[in-house]
Amino acid sequence: MQAITQDEYGAPGDVLRLQEIEKPTIGDDDVLVRVQSAGVHIGDWLVTSGLPYIVRLMGYGIRRPKTKVPGMEIAGHVEAVGKNVKQFQPSDEVFGFCKGGFAEYASVSQDALVLKPANVTFEQAAAVPISAFTALQAIRDQAEVQPGQKVLIIGASGGVGTYAVQIARAFGAEATGVCSTRNVDMVRSIGASHVIDYTQEDITQSGQRYDVILDMAGNRSLSELRGALTPEGTLVIVGGSGGRFLMGFGRTLRAVALSPFVSQNLRQFMSAETKEDLIALKELIEDGKVTPVVDRTFPLSETPEAIAYVGQRHTQGKTVVTV
Ligand SMILES: NC(=O)c1ccc[n+]([C@@H]2O[C@H](COP(=O)([O-])OP(=O)(O)OC[C@H]3O[C@@H](n4cnc5c(N)ncnc54)[C@H](OP(=O)(O)O)[C@@H]3O)[C@@H](O)[C@H]2O)c1
Repeated sequence: MQAITQDEYGAPGDVLRLQEIEKPTIGDDDVLVRVQSAGVHIGDWLVTSGLPYIVRLMGYGIRRPKTKVPGMEIAGHVEAVGKNVKQFQPSDEVFGFCKGGFAEYASVSQDALVLKPANVTFEQAAAVPISAFTALQAIRDQAEVQPGQKVLIIGASGGVGTYAVQIARAFGAEATGVCSTRNVDMVRSIGASHVIDYTQEDITQSGQRYDVILDMAGNRSLSELRGALTPEGTLVIVGGSGGRFLMGFGRTLRAVALSPFVSQNLRQFMSAETKEDLIALKELIEDGKVTPVVDRTFPLSETPEAIAYVGQRHTQGKTVVTV
């Protein structure tokens, strides 16, 4: 089968190549998926480049990547199932999280897949898992968003942000999105009640205070973010920016250290991939409360270009590789 392979860290165009490799084998609890589409997110860029260096300490491999075929989220058809798999059968349409998604076939645990909602395309379904897990867990578990709360989403036009706007609204909150001029209409169209164009206006300029702030952009100071938060509000630091070593992790550590001494809640978290949340997202999609926003699609052979594009950090929703 054709797959994108990686043996070392570096620029996507230098270290990723399209190769003919063996089809993956499946264990008793696994499903062989014929991949139709694979989502691309900023984590693919981090794992390709091995930057910031802290990523390598998170289990991806110190000197070189441990996983030969990158790609963490897919949608496709079931090709074959292991002998313990009862919930799927060949030709089922599925989506979920995996290793080795940038390939014609991927071996995926049955606990990492669910049936694809009928009301979205394979491209849209592949765009869901990692980014939507992050948005869901930030809103539901970290911020514990309640109906009527005002939620500020910084980076509302990106992979995580487009889900965060829709999920905040699904939880009954009033979402304000922060993005650049070209994305204002899109962010409003997915349910933001207000949009702040960060090229024209500062988040503190209006004097509005928010019950919850999700920061995906990572380039505002802690004091600026706290200034836009209510006295008892919650800041969830989702992303960071800058620096080859820590990528803004210093700011995150300061927030977590400060939190016990102030009335505001300052949090950071790492999203987790779970079947329960995959089901929760499938239901939000089927109910029409969340619709994945897909920016550009690239063929499998252009996966390096897709990852480099995502690495520029200005995608509109998600980028997808079509296999
Ligand atoms: N904690 C976790 O478990 C976890 C999981 C997934 C992702 N993340 C992190 O979350 C962050 C966002 O990920 P993503 O996939 O959503 O990235 P993305 O798709 O690249 O989106 C980034 C967004 O940030 C916006 N942006 C850039 N500069 C901005 C600024 N100055 N003010 C406001 N918005 C700005 C961009 O909008 P414009 O194009 O309009 O400028 C873009 O839409 C990354 O740092 C990623 O590493 C963390």
